[in-house]
Amino acid sequence: MKHLLTMSELAIDEIFEIIHNAKCMKAGNLPSPKENPVFAANLFFEPSTRTRFSFEVAEKRLGIQVLNFQAESSSVQKGETLYDTVRTLEAIGADAVIIRHPMDRYFESLKEHVGIPILNAGDGCGNHPTQSLLDLMTIHEEFGGFKGLTVSIHGDIRHSRVARSNAETLTRLGANVLFSGPPEWQDPLNAFGHSVSVDEAIENSDVVMLLRIQHERHASAAAADTHSYLDRYGLTAEREKNMKDHGIIMHPAPINRGVEIESSLVECSRSRIFKQMENGVYVRMAVLARALESKMLKRGEDHHV
Ligand code: CP
Repeated sequence: MKHLLTMSELAIDEIFEIIHNAKCMKAGNLPSPKENPVFAANLFFEPSTRTRFSFEVAEKRLGIQVLNFQAESSSVQKGETLYDTVRTLEAIGADAVIIRHPMDRYFESLKEHVGIPILNAGDGCGNHPTQSLLDLMTIHEEFGGFKGLTVSIHGDIRHSRVARSNAETLTRLGANVLFSGPPEWQDPLNAFGHSVSVDEAIENSDVVMLLRIQHERHASAAAADTHSYLDRYGLTAEREKNMKDHGIIMHPAPINRGVEIESSLVECSRSRIFKQMENGVYVRMAVLARALESKMLKRGEDHHV
């Protein structure tokens, strides 16, 4: 069963295989759609633009039929559990489920009992493996590898599933990870990096990775003073001048322009933010192809790239 729930379950050679396959798909080497449909159900219990629609584009490019589940018009409103919802979709023919859910590690109650792959599109403050893979692909396109790179992750690290997935995986791949941001939003991720000031992080990084303040996960709205945030912790035009010559800017988005990043930098020559979104489609195609390989092969396809 090829679930994708966390980055830590992927061996390093599997990470490189997904990046390689995503690059092949980006170069136009696509499996062609066939008869006998394969179905994927997209279950988003939290808002999403990039992950939801890039999964949908990826599915359609692979010839997978998309079941778009709307939580607000489903039987979840009548009290049906996530487990029963997923088992129902499996019973009626879904071949894979893509799930975003506010609960950390929601998949623990599913993974032993569900007979189809679960692709984690984000669990609470926990994990966001496809975001991490698209970030890795973007860094790999830029630098050709990870060993010895310094990647700084800035901002609301405590509440960020992207920070968690990336810090752990980048460390495993040989990069140095730095954190900066408000002390109250730092996280005990120190096994995967260490905290420095925003200026030190920016001056020493090959990749400056910014994060949105995750207001929806904060216990107290008072904690997030966005007025002084850019000057204190964000990427200003002044700080951008101190980046390494080859340094790049990344952000998983959505972006709060003028809070974690000065608006003029969002599309500057260093920014790879929209490239990350583009790469998200190809990474999700590679992840879907990996998860649904046996279904696709049963149809007589050889979709290996
Ligand atoms: N980066 C990301 O997960 O964006 P969405 O919340 O729009 O999917």
